[in-house]
Amino acid sequence: MLDIKIQKTSSPKKKTAADQPLGFGKIFTDHMFVMDYTEGKGWHDARVEPFRNLSLSPAAMVFHYGQEMFEGLKAYRGDDGKHYVFRPDMNAMRTNNTNDRLVIPRIPVEDFVQAVKTVVKVDADWIPSAPGTSLYIRPFIIATDEFLGVAPSKTYLFIIILSPSGAYYESGLAPVGIWIEDEYVRAVKGGMGFAKTGGNYAASLIAQVKAHDEGFSQVLWLDGVERKYIEEVGAMNIFFKINGTVLTPELNGSILPGITRDSVIKLCKSWGIPVEERRISVDELLEAQANGTLEEVFGTGTAAVISPVGKLRFKDEVMTIKDGGIGELSQKLYDTVTGIQLGRIEDKFGWRVCID
Ligand code: PLP
Ligand code: COI
Repeated sequence: MLDIKIQKTSSPKKKTAADQPLGFGKIFTDHMFVMDYTEGKGWHDARVEPFRNLSLSPAAMVFHYGQEMFEGLKAYRGDDGKHYVFRPDMNAMRTNNTNDRLVIPRIPVEDFVQAVKTVVKVDADWIPSAPGTSLYIRPFIIATDEFLGVAPSKTYLFIIILSPSGAYYESGLAPVGIWIEDEYVRAVKGGMGFAKTGGNYAASLIAQVKAHDEGFSQVLWLDGVERKYIEEVGAMNIFFKINGTVLTPELNGSILPGITRDSVIKLCKSWGIPVEERRISVDELLEAQANGTLEEVFGTGTAAVISPVGKLRFKDEVMTIKDGGIGELSQKLYDTVTGIQLGRIEDKFGWRVCID
C-alpha cells in the first residue's frame, strides 16, 4: 500500500460548462499523481500535486530513445451520483506487461489501482455527467536519466493526468470509415505491438495522415509479414460479425490486448453468440462482403468505446457495411458496456470499481 501525500492546488481552474462539447484529451484537471523511481530505492514519494509542467533535462532518455509507456482508462459519474472506474486492475496488469518489454520497473497492481483511485477522488468533481462524457485517465511512465547512451534508465517518473472528455471521434457513435493499410506496417511479432508505448503510435502517424487525406477516420493494420491478416485499428481492436459468428484477431503478440476487447468477448459469450479469436484474412472479409454474410464491423477501445464501422477501404475497393448504419450488435454492446460503466445495468462480471 502506498503512502500517498496529497497537496491541493490553491488556484483551481474554471471547468468547462456542462453544455459545451469537451472533445477528447484537450482539457486537464487541477491535480496529477506523481511517483519517482530510483534504482536501488524502488518506487518512492507517491503524491498528488497540482497539475504543472515538468522540468526535465534535455538529455532525459525518454526524449531520445522513447523508453516510455502509457495507459488509458476512464472514470464515470454513475446515475446514483457515485464515481466509478472500469476494470483498473486490467490496466495495471497490462502496464506490467508493457514495462517488461520496455525494461521499465514493474508497479504492483494494487499500487497502480490505489494511485488511480486516489487522484480521481481528489478531482472527482471534474468527472463530467453529460451523455457520452467521462474522465479519461492517462497513466504514463517516462525514463528520466540524463544520459545519451542507449541503455535502460535508472530513474523514472510515473504520472497520472486526468482529462474530462467526450466522444473520441467527432462523429460520436456514428459509423466511421476505416482505411486498410497495405503499404506501412505498425508492428511485427517479437516487436512491441502488444505493448502500450509511444513508439507504436509514432510509427502509425504517416498512414493515419494518408487515411485522413482520403477521408477515412483511422487505419486498419495488416500483419507485418504477409500483409494479409487483419491486426487492429489505430486506437481500437476490431470485430467482424460474419454469418452470426463474432470474429476478432487472436492476440498474437503484435496487437494490443484491449480491455474493451476482452469485455466484448465475455459479453457476447454470455449472450450465447459464438466468438472466434483467430487469424482473419482480408480475402475472407472481401468474400463475406461479396456473398452478403458480412453483417457488422465495429472497433472497441477505452477512448472509442464501441465504434461501428460503416466503410472499409482496401486498395480500390470500398465496402459499405450495413448501408453505413449502426449494427444491432454494435448498438447492444455500446448500450451494455456504457450501462455497466454508469451503473444502469447489473455488473455481473464485477468490472465496475467505486472510488468513493
Ligand atoms: N489497440 C490500440 C492500438 C489502442 O491504442 C487501444 C486503446 O487503448 C486499443 C486497441 C483498445 O484497448 P482498450 O480497450 O484497452 O482501450
Ligand atoms: C485508449 O483508448 O485509451 C487509447 O489509448 C487510445 C489513444 C491512443 C487515444
